[in-house]
Amino acid sequence: MNIAVLGSGTIGKSWCALFLAAGHHVVAYDPDSAKKEGITDFIQASKSALRRLGYQSAGLIERFRFVQNPMDAVQGAELIQENAPERLGVKHQLFSEIEPYLDSQAVIHSSTSGITLEELQAGLSDIGRIIIAHPFNPPHLIPLVELFGNQETKPRVIESAREFYESLGKVPVELQKSVPGHIANRIQAVVWQEALHLAQEGVASLSDIDKAIANGPGLRWSIYGPNQLFSLAAGDRGLEGFIEHLGPSFQRWWSSAGRVEINSKTVDMVREQFKKDDKDISDMKIYRDQILVKILEAKIAMRDNGKPEEE
Ligand SMILES: NC(=O)c1ccc[n+]([C@@H]2O[C@H](COP(=O)([O-])OP(=O)(O)OC[C@H]3O[C@@H](n4cnc5c(N)ncnc54)[C@H](O)[C@@H]3O)[C@@H](O)[C@H]2O)c1
Repeated sequence: MNIAVLGSGTIGKSWCALFLAAGHHVVAYDPDSAKKEGITDFIQASKSALRRLGYQSAGLIERFRFVQNPMDAVQGAELIQENAPERLGVKHQLFSEIEPYLDSQAVIHSSTSGITLEELQAGLSDIGRIIIAHPFNPPHLIPLVELFGNQETKPRVIESAREFYESLGKVPVELQKSVPGHIANRIQAVVWQEALHLAQEGVASLSDIDKAIANGPGLRWSIYGPNQLFSLAAGDRGLEGFIEHLGPSFQRWWSSAGRVEINSKTVDMVREQFKKDDKDISDMKIYRDQILVKILEAKIAMRDNGKPEEE
């Protein structure tokens, strides 16, 4: 397939690596010419991880082109993965530039984290050809893609998107309703709010809260979601049994959950407890991705051995 990747920052370059490793032809656009080197470096650097996960590692650069004009990127493309900055005006401007050059059947998948589909559609004439296809960073590794189309979406656009991402080894989920932040980020947001709240209340340091998540529920969450996990905790009575057993405790914890305002007090606490100079960010990203690959390899091996996956 011919794919145009518009916006080649954190998300765009990662999509490029994945699409190429899955055998597609990719033309990437970014107004910043310096991004060209960044993407090609990223594609080369991602090869070994993607090879371990079963993707191709030959001919990637040969099937890749970088352009500095969005019209050149979309001509002949069947699919446009849009990853421009998270500003509605920027995305609308980009849509107005590319729309006259799109093939009649071309679809736009927006990676937006927080802009609604209805807001995006307002920037196009043919509003039935755009959907949200929100990845999780880094998209070349994390399987989740959140899809959303509405009543204006053309028939089969969502089904084709689902088939496309599944063909890449992704795990697409579909929202039935428009909601800011989609599914996973909203859940992360609630977890993070409580983490900040606990630290503000002096219950534990941010560092210990991170350790509690990464060495506790975080390990289990990469295997099953909370509903499935809790259903395993009440014998054969499943999730209903878990609610009977621990529902009242959860109700009590929910009642005392905190609301956090992003204000100077919050920022001061974060600055005080979370000194960025103490950390080597690039080493931590490498460490994160190396472990992610090992987890994904383990999941693929279990699946190939016929072991149960998510429900
Ligand atoms: N970073 C994340 O964790 C994450 C996760 C999922 C989805 N997203 C979404 O992906 C999109 C891109 O986010 P990002 O984190 O990659 O941002 P980024 O700032 O890393 O990259 C944006 C890129 O767009 C380029 N750009 C600027 N103007 C442009 C234009 N008019 N047309 C096309 N490209 C333009 C910039 O030069 C930059 O390279 C956003 O909609 C964001 O919500 C981000």
